[in-house]
Amino acid sequence: MSQARIIDGKAFAERLRARLKGQVEDLARRHGPVPGLAVVLVGEDPASQVYVRSKGRATVEAGMRSFEHRLPESTDQATLLAVIDRLNRDPEVHGILVQLPLPRGIDAGAVIEAIDPAKDVDGFHPYNAGRLALGLPGLVPCTPLGCLMLLRDVLGDLSGRRALVLGRSTIVGRPMAQLLLGADCTVTIAHSRTRDLVEECRRAEILVAAVGRPGMVRGDWIRPGATVIDVGINRVAAKEPGDEPGKTRLVGDVDFAEAVEVAGAITPVPGGVGPMTIACLLHNTLHAACAIHGVPVPEAA
Ligand code: GUN
Repeated sequence: MSQARIIDGKAFAERLRARLKGQVEDLARRHGPVPGLAVVLVGEDPASQVYVRSKGRATVEAGMRSFEHRLPESTDQATLLAVIDRLNRDPEVHGILVQLPLPRGIDAGAVIEAIDPAKDVDGFHPYNAGRLALGLPGLVPCTPLGCLMLLRDVLGDLSGRRALVLGRSTIVGRPMAQLLLGADCTVTIAHSRTRDLVEECRRAEILVAAVGRPGMVRGDWIRPGATVIDVGINRVAAKEPGDEPGKTRLVGDVDFAEAVEVAGAITPVPGGVGPMTIACLLHNTLHAACAIHGVPVPEAA
C-alpha cells in the first residue's frame, strides 16, 4: 500500500480566509455591514488566552471588527450574563463567542443559552443545535464544519458513505454526526461504552476521531483506503531521540505513523483540523452578519 494523502488543513484554511476577506470587502462595497465578532474570555487559562489572541488577529485580517472582552477569574455569572446582554443588543456585534472552559461556579449552559441564537457563531445554543438536528439551516459548530469542508474537498459527494464518529461531545462528536447525516452518510457514533469498537472503526470509510486521547486510534483500526479526520489536539511529552527533557509536542487522537500506512487520506496534527476552526468561525461571523441584516452572502470571487 502506498502512503495516505496528507490533507493540508492549513492551506485549505488559508484559502478559505482569503475568500472570506474578499467577501467582506464585497459587502463593504455594497454598503453592507462590517461583520463584527465579540470574544469573551473569563479568567487566565493560558491555552484560552492563546486561542482568543489568534481569533482576534484572524478576525481583523479578514477585514472584520474584533471586540475582546477580558473578565477576571472572579467574575460572577450575573456579571457575565450582563456582558452578553449588552453584546446581544449591540448592532456592531454579529457574532458572540464565549471562550470555554469557564471558571468553576459559572454555569456554561446558562451562559450559552443567554446568547442571541442569531449571533451564536459557535453554534452551541440549543436553538442552533436543534435546527442542525432537524436538518434546517443555522449556525453550525466551527470544528465539525471545518471537518465537513475537508471531507468534501477530498471525497466530493459523501452520499452513502459509511462514517464513524468517535466521541459524542456537544462541541464536536454530536454535531459532526448530524452534518454527516445531512450529507447522506450512514453514520455511527462510537463512544466509551461502545462494544467491539475496533470492528466498528474498521468498517468506516470515513473515520472522525474526537475523543481527546493521544494516539488512541491505531493503524489496524483503520479500513485500508479510509479517510481519517483527526480532531484531537493533545499535548504530550516529546519522546523522540534527542528531545530535551520537559519538551512537549502536539499529537492527535490517531497514531499518525501507523495510520498513514493504511488510510487513503489523513489530516495531520498540527496542520489538519486545527486551522479550520478559526476559518469557520470567520465564515459563521460573515453568515451571521448577512442574516441579521437580511442581505445575501456575497459570492466568492
Ligand atoms: N474552547 C475550545 N474550543 C472552543 C470552541 O470551539 N469554542 C469556544 N467558545 N470555546 C472553545
